[in-house]
Amino acid sequence: MLEDLRQLLRRDQVWPFLLEPVPPAIDVSHRMILYVEGLTVSFDGFKALNDLNLYLEDGELRCLIGANGAGKTTLMDVITGKTRPDAGAVFFGQTLNLLERSEADIAALGVGRKFQKPSVFEAQTVYANLELAMKMNKGIWPTLLARLTPEQRDRIDQVLEIVGLDHRRGLAAGALSHGQKQWLEIGMLLIAEPRLLLIDEPVAGMTAQETERTAQLLTSLAGEHTVVVVEHDMEFVRSIAKTVTVLHQGAVLAEGSMAQVQSNPAVVEVYLGDSQ
Ligand SMILES: Nc1ncnc2c1ncn2[C@@H]1O[C@H](COP(=O)(O)OP(=O)(O)OP(=O)(O)O)[C@@H](O)[C@H]1O
Ligand SMILES: [Mg+2]
Repeated sequence: MLEDLRQLLRRDQVWPFLLEPVPPAIDVSHRMILYVEGLTVSFDGFKALNDLNLYLEDGELRCLIGANGAGKTTLMDVITGKTRPDAGAVFFGQTLNLLERSEADIAALGVGRKFQKPSVFEAQTVYANLELAMKMNKGIWPTLLARLTPEQRDRIDQVLEIVGLDHRRGLAAGALSHGQKQWLEIGMLLIAEPRLLLIDEPVAGMTAQETERTAQLLTSLAGEHTVVVVEHDMEFVRSIAKTVTVLHQGAVLAEGSMAQVQSNPAVVEVYLGDSQ
């Protein structure tokens, strides 16, 4: 258990355990859950994001594509409060200015982020990993051995079902396949019932079958959650995409259905040209 706590403190993931008692409601009365406007991020004079605009509808699944260095991860870093921009605005719903909030605050408001590398607690069972996520989320940090309520156990069961690991609940996470670890980590994010999920390169390193299962999982999460997926695997993007946003040199180059962006000459030239 102590080793788990050490591991937890080393994690990149920000757990929303420094919660506001009651997080403010997210005003999606205009159907939009995220507004990103005029976002510019400079690193030593180099603009990783350059006057970028992005609008997400509540419950949509958006794919974000673009060549290496286009600014995809930097955009996620700004939305989650990890990187502060030089200019621009980021609003969660109509009213919540994310640029005024800390990383922990933003997580607590309901923005969940999945980094590329899975970071589950290998020595713990699948169930124990979700239990830990629940305790972190509920802010019962000092009392990790406290018992969960029946409602919390129900939520864990529900999440196990959603991510397809119900039959693996008693298995040590370290014994899972790479794909299953990724699903477990998505499950750990789902415990907090986030409104917006940002997922960076989920299928890298997965088998074809795991990739297909991940496509089903992410598609099923949309609706209840708004999901942003960054991925280089065009086959995968094609299989899940409704709306695709193409980033190029820190700005939006094109946006539309997969068919629309694929036939956009500028996109073909700078990105899709040699990946089809
Ligand atoms: N902390 C940083 N300091 C300096 N430059 C950075 C930093 N973070 C990102 N960059 C640069 O900003 C640009 C955008 O990087 P970013 O990681 O956002 O790209 P990406 O679209 O996620 O690429 P990939 O597909 O390779 O993951 C790159 O040129 C990168 O080298
Ligand atoms: Mg990246």
